[in-house]
Formats: sequence, structure tokens, C-alpha cells
Amino acid sequence: MMKKISLKDIASQVGVSTALVSYVLNNQKEGRINKEVAQKIRDTAKRLNYRTNQVAKSLKTNKTYTIGLIVADISNPFFSSLARIIEDEADQNNYTVIFGSSDESPAKSEKLMETLINRQVDGLIIAPPQNSESQIKYLIEQDIPFVLIDRYFPGIETNFVAIDNYKAAYTAVQHFIDIGRKRIGMITYESSIFNLNERTRGYLSAMKENEIPFQKNWLKELSANNTKQCIENAINELLVDPQPIDALLFSSNIFAGWGLKHINSLDIKVPDQLAIISFDESEALDLFYAPLTYIKQPLQEMGQAAIKILLQRIGKNIKLAQVSMEARLIVRDSTIGQSELA
Ligand code: RIB
Repeated sequence: MMKKISLKDIASQVGVSTALVSYVLNNQKEGRINKEVAQKIRDTAKRLNYRTNQVAKSLKTNKTYTIGLIVADISNPFFSSLARIIEDEADQNNYTVIFGSSDESPAKSEKLMETLINRQVDGLIIAPPQNSESQIKYLIEQDIPFVLIDRYFPGIETNFVAIDNYKAAYTAVQHFIDIGRKRIGMITYESSIFNLNERTRGYLSAMKENEIPFQKNWLKELSANNTKQCIENAINELLVDPQPIDALLFSSNIFAGWGLKHINSLDIKVPDQLAIISFDESEALDLFYAPLTYIKQPLQEMGQAAIKILLQRIGKNIKLAQVSMEARLIVRDSTIGQSELA
């Protein structure tokens, strides 16, 4: 583990007393300390990557019993459900969770990470946004305990908990094919996030291995901005085609929520004209007149596993834990319809 820089280290580098360093870094006695010396102390602390450890002073174990959780959007039912599970599991182990939303922005993720580290959390659980590899590498270099959840970077050896997204998407498409659908579309994000790319890969593999003649325009990869309008345009394109699609896979609950509203407005009959499957449960999908068939991620198990791995990592008794869980396809009316249930 990297040596933690102490006040004494800074004092000996600058050639002043530890007390003086403490006053400066805790912004005490400012009017009575030479400004150049004070600046030299601050610069040295920054250069040595010193992190003020307020809480540690009061806790002999040098732990704060707090965990930082960074998710994409805490208002998204998927992440809020997962966050609650993590919070309860952490509480069982006398830990408090401090949340933050990255909004899938690397810059926001970095700012949150810095804040949480400076608050001396004992470890982090992160659903990393795309292009945040350098931040994850920094955590590794600084020997800061963390676990990635929901998505990870295959090129970086880290602890993670996620589902087998490839298999989940493949299973969904196989279900469409099993109920006789052959013109199968998918709406997803245009993103380099591994779990979303694996969903697309599973969709394409299932089409290929079932020898379904695939049309490129059936796969819609939408940019994250102005998504609602993009979804409506994508659905229009998929449904006004001379041979419209007869099945549609949404890669996330958010897309499905927006997409269903538009499909309803077009008076498209589900599943008769269009069978639909989405990743993730959410109330909006339950309340639809043909409740959606969806891919259920094992959130309880994921949250518990993430906490278990993180606490083992904080306690230094774990090398590497990479957990890939199975999701389940929950079949409901949006694919088999009431008539087929009879
Ligand atoms: O919007 C939630 C979706 O994106 C979930 O499927 C989860 O995996 C996240 O990555």
C-alpha cells in the first residue's frame, strides 16, 4: 500500500514544525504565519499528495466507516434501487454510504471521486462512465479500495460486479424468435460503455446464429443528448419501413419508458403488431396495458456482492474479485399477449 503522507513528512521537507504545518493545512492562525512559508507548506502537501484526514484523527482505526457510491443517475429506478440495496447492506456492516450521480460524464465522475476521496471514504463503488479509464487507473495507483458495478473496463484488471449482458440480450432475441418474430429491432445508446456494447453484441449474435436476415437500419444507436426526440424518430423509422419491424428490444428502462409513450401515440398494438422487451424493471413498464417482458438484473445479489468485495478489499484480505451474474427474462404480455396466455 502507498505510504500515507503525514504532517511530519511535510514539516521535515519544508524545515518547519509539525504544529505549523497543521495550523496552515487547517487554515488556523492565518494572520500570524508568514505567507511565503504557508504557501510553501501547501505546495509541498500538494506535491506529496497529502490528504487531510480530519476524521482519522478521532478514529484510532484510521477509518471513517463511509463508502462513496457513484452511479450514472440516482433518479433512474435501476440505480436508485441498486443504491438502496447497497446502502442497507453497508448499514449492516456499520458503514454509511455517500451517493453521487456522474450523469455519464467523466468530468463529473472525476469531481465526485476527488470529493469522496478527500472526505476520506474507506472505499468506492462505481458505475463508471465511458472514457473514465484514467480515473480508475488512478485509484489503482493510489491503492484506494474500489469495486466497479454494472459496467467495467475489460482492459483494466479491477474488482467488478455485473451481469452477463451478452447472454441477457441474446436470450431476449431468442425469445422473440421463439414466438415467431423475425424483423427484430434494437434501440440503444451510441456508447463505448462495455455493458451496452455487450447487449448489442448479444442481439447481433442471436440474429446471426438463428440465420435471421439482419438489416442494418434495425439497430438504432442514439446519442445521449436529445434522446427523447431521437427515440421517436428511431421508432418512426423502424415502423414506417415498407416491412416494419415486428419486435423491438430496448437496451434500458429509460429508452423503453420514452419509447412506449410514442408507440402508444402511434396506436401500434402490442404485441400483435410489435412485441417489446426491455432491460430492467420499472413501474412505467408494469403499468403499460401490455406489461413489458423485461430482463431482470439480480440487484439484491449485485449490491450484496459489491459490498462484500469492497469490505474484503478495505480489510486487505482479497486479491481480485470479478463477478458476472445471470439476468432473468421475465416473460409478460408485451411478447406473449393475453390471447396466448389463455
Ligand atoms: O438505465 C439503466 C440501465 O443502464 C441498466 O440496464 C443498467 O445496466 C445501466 O447500465
